[in-house]
Amino acid sequence: MRGRFITFEGGEGTGKSTQLRLLAGYLGNRGLKTVATKEPGGTPAGQELRRLLVTGDKDKFDAAAEALLYFADRHIHLTQKVWPAMEQGAWVLSDRFADSTVAYQYYGYDKRVAKEDLDCLYKIAVGDFKPDLTIILDIDPQIGLARSFKKADAMAVKELRFEGRELAFHQRMRNGFLEIAAAEPERCAVLNADQSIESLHGDIVKLITERFGL
Ligand code: TMP
Repeated sequence: MRGRFITFEGGEGTGKSTQLRLLAGYLGNRGLKTVATKEPGGTPAGQELRRLLVTGDKDKFDAAAEALLYFADRHIHLTQKVWPAMEQGAWVLSDRFADSTVAYQYYGYDKRVAKEDLDCLYKIAVGDFKPDLTIILDIDPQIGLARSFKKADAMAVKELRFEGRELAFHQRMRNGFLEIAAAEPERCAVLNADQSIESLHGDIVKLITERFGL
């Protein structure tokens, strides 16, 4: 595959979507073909799964059911959108990927699913493929959740299923992302998301320039 796959990860309200859009603009200005996408919901079928996953009662699925649905969305996303775009040489930027399943469904739910079972689902849905770079945006969950609730005020359909979970869930999930980054420092970089949009964008551009020699 000739393209690149860069994922943005983090808890609620870290500004991932804004930063992804800014990076896509930056790379596009440098003449690179970019595709901005997200999980869940990067494809039409994924949009249907997204509605199930992020709206409604917080207890309607347990951790295992969620993991299965997120990996189903991921497989559809990779086969229908990410891999074909990479074959065409695109830099694909995804708002969330498999680290979110480990951080939310494994760490968030306090290890109610086994890590080996998630690894097994990864093998089925993703195979040996992994991101070239994962940017983890880190913020105190209390600040992130406040941003997220404010944003939801303007949404017609409230995507607040996970925001409804207790603060301890969000703290475990944040620590989970930091553990993932510590275990794979060559793939992951952690950036402080509690700063202005412009200065965080600057940090991301610096990181991309260093990692890919642009
Ligand atoms: P978003 O609001 O960042 O688009 O993400 C949708 C929600 O889905 C968010 O609350 C995090 C959650 N999520 C998981 O719990 N596991 C996953 O694997 C993914 C991709 C998202």
